Amino acid sequence: MEKAFFIVLLAGCAHGYATTSAPEITVPPASTDVELGSELVLNCSSRGEPVPRILWRFRAADAAHYRELDAKGDNHAVGEDGRLRVHKVSRTDEGRYLCRVWNSLGERTATADVKVLVPVTVLKTHPMKKSVASGALVTLGCDLGGEPLPAVTWLFHGDPVSDAVVQATTYPPLKRFVHSELFVRPAVSSDYVCQGSNTVLGTPRIAAEQVSVSVLGAPRTGYGDSPLGYCATYVGKVCRRHLSAAPFVWYNTTYRADGAGGTLDNEHAVARQLSHHAADLSGVCRPALESLLCSVAFPQCRQADGAQTALPPCREDCLAVKQLFCANEWYLLVSGQKLPGHLALPDCDQLPQHGDGSAHRCSHAGLTVMLTSQITYDCVRDRGRFYQGRVNTTADGILCQRWDSDYPHDHSVPVDLFPELAGAENYCRNAGGEEPQPWCFTTDPDVRWGPCDIPKCGESLAGSVGGGGGGRDRGSAG
Ligand SMILES: *[C@@H]1O[C@H](CO)[C@@H](O)[C@H](O)[C@H]1NC(C)=O
Ligand SMILES: *[C@@H]1O[C@H](CO)[C@@H](O)[C@H](O)[C@H]1NC(C)=O
Ligand SMILES: *[C@@H]1O[C@H](CO)[C@@H](O)[C@H](O)[C@H]1NC(C)=O
Repeated sequence: MEKAFFIVLLAGCAHGYATTSAPEITVPPASTDVELGSELVLNCSSRGEPVPRILWRFRAADAAHYRELDAKGDNHAVGEDGRLRVHKVSRTDEGRYLCRVWNSLGERTATADVKVLVPVTVLKTHPMKKSVASGALVTLGCDLGGEPLPAVTWLFHGDPVSDAVVQATTYPPLKRFVHSELFVRPAVSSDYVCQGSNTVLGTPRIAAEQVSVSVLGAPRTGYGDSPLGYCATYVGKVCRRHLSAAPFVWYNTTYRADGAGGTLDNEHAVARQLSHHAADLSGVCRPALESLLCSVAFPQCRQADGAQTALPPCREDCLAVKQLFCANEWYLLVSGQKLPGHLALPDCDQLPQHGDGSAHRCSHAGLTVMLTSQITYDCVRDRGRFYQGRVNTTADGILCQRWDSDYPHDHSVPVDLFPELAGAENYCRNAGGEEPQPWCFTTDPDVRWGPCDIPKCGESLAGSVGGGGGGRDRGSAG
């Protein structure tokens, strides 16, 4: 060794170069993220005279000390150029790498941190297959690994399930994973999908596993004072958007001999009723009617003191449909019903009131709820449902009639039902958003009502004028 050193030294002299120099790291290793199973390359080029030697050390993320890496190991090698290559990275290769170069004149070190990223995988689901009674509460579990830790979504028929989902990150000795649980009450045999996602080196990764529940036999009955039905997750499509706030609905089991609970019957009945009258329903009536029918067919479920009961529709929603949204269609609907008896349109006056919502008395569809964030005073947003300003003449310049008066025009607009009409005096309003813009009855006995001319908020609202419902007859009280 000493001899070689001497010769190199002489050679340098002979060519007139600087004789010796301390080592220098010209390309230090860079901290990096690497995907599990791929190759890791860490640079460490150096120069110096005599030519420096190199040694790599490694300290695992959870270790206190560095250990030396041999020039060649089972899964790694240090090249002539000083580069360290780890051929197939595993979780245990995560940590800090140090390269040390030295010669007789000194030494230099450089470090780099390596993080191992792992695409999401489903480690385990429990149970894979479970047989339960219809309407019983089932807990489905799913463990997912990955680095970064994955986000978990449960899917049912391709849509995310928002029922009770519990997620926990757990750290048993060597693994980090996410444990996710879904609580459901399936009415019929159902397949749920546990799906995890994370992003590794800029690429989104997804892993999914199906978890099946087999539902056996007839639905469970015998809950408290409501023995003829049970609560379960809504599994249909027709009413999905109306039931988003109420994942559990009540299934009536009395009217079918096989006790299957009408999951599909009610679904078809609602769809049939809507399509039967499709041609008669105005654009304003249809969604409101659909919402009311859905709360009749799939009432919200109340679970208290071990009893499961159905909540009837709310009187406010029923009256809003009957007296405003579908005022012209209501009698046609009631007389021409294609619904089975238990799904008949309700007698609104017999229903409990939602009131301030403090007691859970009815299946609230929110048709009369005023969205305070949407209120405007000087201009009209969309159809102007929440316009609360003080314009009191029609576009033709006729003074408006007070809403709480029936003179000169008798009317049946349910003034007490819509908060939009509270204290409305004789101002232009559009309760329920029933017309394309705010309007009023007029004080001219010859002109029943007219739209008001109020500027649009912002621009490009052209599409909101001329929707359904305009020019209707506004049936008089009776
Ligand atoms: C190693 O160094 C070379 C330049 O010498 C550079 O192009 C390359 O990106 C470096 N590799 C890593 C993994 O840092
Ligand atoms: C369930 O169906 C039966 C038979 O059609 C009906 O009499 C009963 O009122 C229904 N119960 C509820 C809560 O809708
Ligand atoms: C109508 O509105 C105008 C302007 O706000 C007001 O001066 C007038 O008193 C109102 N008329 C009635 C009858 O409310």
